[in-house]
Parts: sequence; C-alpha cells; structure tokens
Amino acid sequence: MKPVYQDKLEERREALKDFFGGDDRDEIPDELLQRIFQFEELMVKYRSAIREVTTKLEILGDELSGTSEHNPIETIQSRIKRPYSIARKLSKRGLPVAVESIAENLNDVAGIRVICPFISDIYAVSEMLQKQDDVRLIACKDYIQNPKSNGYRSLHLIIEIPVFFSTGKENIRVEIQIRTVAMDFWASLEHQIRYKNDSPVVRQLADELKECADIIAQTDVKMQELRERISCQNED
Ligand code: GTP
Ligand code: MG
Repeated sequence: MKPVYQDKLEERREALKDFFGGDDRDEIPDELLQRIFQFEELMVKYRSAIREVTTKLEILGDELSGTSEHNPIETIQSRIKRPYSIARKLSKRGLPVAVESIAENLNDVAGIRVICPFISDIYAVSEMLQKQDDVRLIACKDYIQNPKSNGYRSLHLIIEIPVFFSTGKENIRVEIQIRTVAMDFWASLEHQIRYKNDSPVVRQLADELKECADIIAQTDVKMQELRERISCQNED
C-alpha cells in the first residue's frame, strides 16, 4: 500500500472514531475503512463524469445562445445517488451490496436532468450529445413516444463517457433525463404525491394524475405548434 494512502486511512480512522464516539474500544476495522475509502473514490469518479457531461451541455447552450435565436436548454440539474438509495437498489435486485457491484450493475448513480423549452429541443439535445465521438450510448428509453402507464414522459439516455484520472482513463456511466418544462412540472409534483408510494388512497388518484399528464402533454404539443408558426412567419 502507498504510504500516502496509509496516512489518509489513519486520518480517517481517527476522524470517524471521533465522529462515532471516539472510544478506543470502538476501533474501526481496516476492512471497513478501506471500503469507505473505495466508496468515496468511486463517488469522486461519478461526480467527475457529471462535470464532464454538464460542461458538454453548457457548451452547447452557450454556443446556440450566441449563434441561433433559440437556446434548447433551459436548465441543467444533477445529483449523485445517495449511499442509502444505492444499497437499497442493489439489495432489492438481489445483487451484492458492495463497492465493486455499483459500477457493474447501476446506471443511474450519476444523474443529470436537462429541462428544455420545447419537445423538439429534447431530441435536438439528445442528438447533439450522441454525435460527440467520446459519448457512447448504452440505452435510450423514449417515454415521450411511449409514455409510462401513469402518464410519465421524458427521454432517458444512459451514456458512457471517458474521464481522465491520474491512473488513466475510465468510462463512467451517466443517466440523462431530458424533458420539457411542462413534463418536469408534472414529474416533480407526481413524485411528491405518488412515486414509489403504493397506498390505496394514492392509487385512487392515479387516473386523475394520468389525466393531468395528458393535458400537460397536449399543451406541450400546442406550444410546439405555436413556435413553429412563429418561426415560419419570421422566415417569410
Ligand atoms: P429506477 O429503478 O427507478 O431507476 O427505474 P429504471 O431503471 O426502470 O429506469 P426508468 O427509466 O424507468 O426510470 C429512471 C428514473 O426516471 C427514475 O429514477 C425517476 O427519476 C424517473 N421516473 C421514472 N418513472 C417515473 C414516474 O413515473 N414518475 C416520476 N416522477 N419519475 C419517474
Ligand atoms: Mg433511478
């Protein structure tokens, strides 16, 4: 083991001991400490991948704001999945809850959400990203063409991008959800009301939530139409 690594390990053992009571009898085992360290290192990698992809999206947004009359990106949000959610997902699927298992089995530890003004912007952003030669598409789920039965709409991409570390290049997976402002409005509220909650009361609301999603989707289509009419007029 590298001496610096050993020092860091000891530093952490001390800090964690203080944190959890600082009692000498509660020595933190080496193995646990190393796993905490490995987990943190992996999270640094996911955070780096988020930065890479966010930068790509920001560059596209900046460029298009300057060279066209329309920026297809309204906002970019990102998050790293919390340790508890990672463990829960792995164990639910009957997979080992171990650091090595994370990169192998999960595609959504690094998540980015891109909010666009119009439906056409979603596909434009998706295409611009996929055209970049360091972006590898792993999977694409189009919940706009094929909405979920509850009415959920968004375009989901799982991509892999290379990130350069001191030890070399690593391909890291990132989940990108691309949706309109309207789709995001519905998804955020639905998440608060219902997502992953299966109580009978909530089930009774399902039809009404679906109805809201459909109305919102019609509005999205209408706004797209209006935009196309205006841009045709501008061209005349
Ligand atoms: P997860 O295990 O939840 O990651 O699902 P999955 O691997 O089958 O992927 P899917 O593409 O269905 O969903 C991934 C993510 O999309 C979720 O974690 C949510 O952020 C979002 N999502 C999917 N379905 C819904 C939904 O019905 N409502 C809301 N609000 N968000 C959803
Ligand atoms: Mg998920």
